[in-house]
Amino acid sequence: MKVAVIGAAGGIGQALSLMLKNRLPKRSHLNLYDLAPMTPGVAVDLSHIPTDVEVIGYTGDDLAVALDDADVVMISAGVARKPGMDRADLFEINAKIIQGIIENIAQACPNACIGIITNPVNSMVPVAKQVLQAKGIYNKAKLFGVTTLDVTRAKTFVGQVKKIDPKPLRIPVIGGHSGVTILPLLSQLGIDFSEQEAKQLTEHIRDAGTEVVDAKAGGGSATLSMGQAAGAFCLKLVDGLLGKSGIDLCAYIDDGGQYAGFFALPIELGVNGIERIREVGPLSDYEASQLEQLLPILQAEITQAIQWTTANCCGDKKSI
Ligand SMILES: NC(=O)c1ccc[n+]([C@@H]2O[C@H](COP(=O)([O-])OP(=O)(O)OC[C@H]3O[C@@H](n4cnc5c(N)ncnc54)[C@H](O)[C@@H]3O)[C@@H](O)[C@H]2O)c1
Repeated sequence: MKVAVIGAAGGIGQALSLMLKNRLPKRSHLNLYDLAPMTPGVAVDLSHIPTDVEVIGYTGDDLAVALDDADVVMISAGVARKPGMDRADLFEINAKIIQGIIENIAQACPNACIGIITNPVNSMVPVAKQVLQAKGIYNKAKLFGVTTLDVTRAKTFVGQVKKIDPKPLRIPVIGGHSGVTILPLLSQLGIDFSEQEAKQLTEHIRDAGTEVVDAKAGGGSATLSMGQAAGAFCLKLVDGLLGKSGIDLCAYIDDGGQYAGFFALPIELGVNGIERIREVGPLSDYEASQLEQLLPILQAEITQAIQWTTANCCGDKKSI
């Protein structure tokens, strides 16, 4: 299995790469790329961990070399939030970065599964789709926005409130990955929540990213919990590609027009990426009202992405 991490010298990239070096299957290849010149050094550092995973670091003009023939590409390249910013403030700069990386993927590893961590995830994934479509290689079963951290946070906060072990909890989190577009389906847990508890927990899960940004006081956003979440996502993707059965998670995917065009949904992974989209299941009245409210917001973020790509790179196929 060959996995490429793009943005590998950053806060998330390093934590993610550490987990992958330790946990990828034997004889895997882990390629790290980042604009930061220290990236080969990050790989040397990781290479001293005694696992049967070869790790190589690239920088500068070597993005295509790092991507060559990868099975999975995890992208955390870009700019993160500072206090006072929301994820939408990152749109313009990160959209250009995602466009450039996806164009390289189209050349170097057109069959790879792509996991996008870079914010705003709600818009970056549609940008990636447009670029892949313009290159004629879009496969909706292989493009993912990584929303695993929302599920991780939901489990943690429910565990804290109900004083139970969070690990075995299974909580679908649907919608998007920003503010009110994040919708945890707490009603499906089989645990009693008062209306106020469900509302407070939902708001805590939605605001958790900002809680980290503010607590880091200008030093960045979630990196360690996100590195762990992205690692868990990537390892499940790899398990699916290797043919293991029953690999489930929630991710922000092309919903075929069922909700907003893109939507975080429970899915089953397999050898071709997304094997099937699972039923969302019944919603409480509160969750149903939240779903109604989030749809236009998510649609607007997706429309912004489509307009940006049309204006900047994919409006005229000949220009690409
Ligand atoms: N999906 C999620 O749940 C989630 C959670 C937290 C943060 N994020 C997002 O992940 C992204 C990364 O966050 P971080 O904390 O690791 O930031 P960071 O600033 O620590 O790291 C970003 C890295 O990207 C690199 N980079 C920038 N442009 C590049 C390019 N064109 N090619 C290759 N590398 C490039 C930088 O050199 C840097 O090392 C941000 O957009 C952040 O908002 C997502």
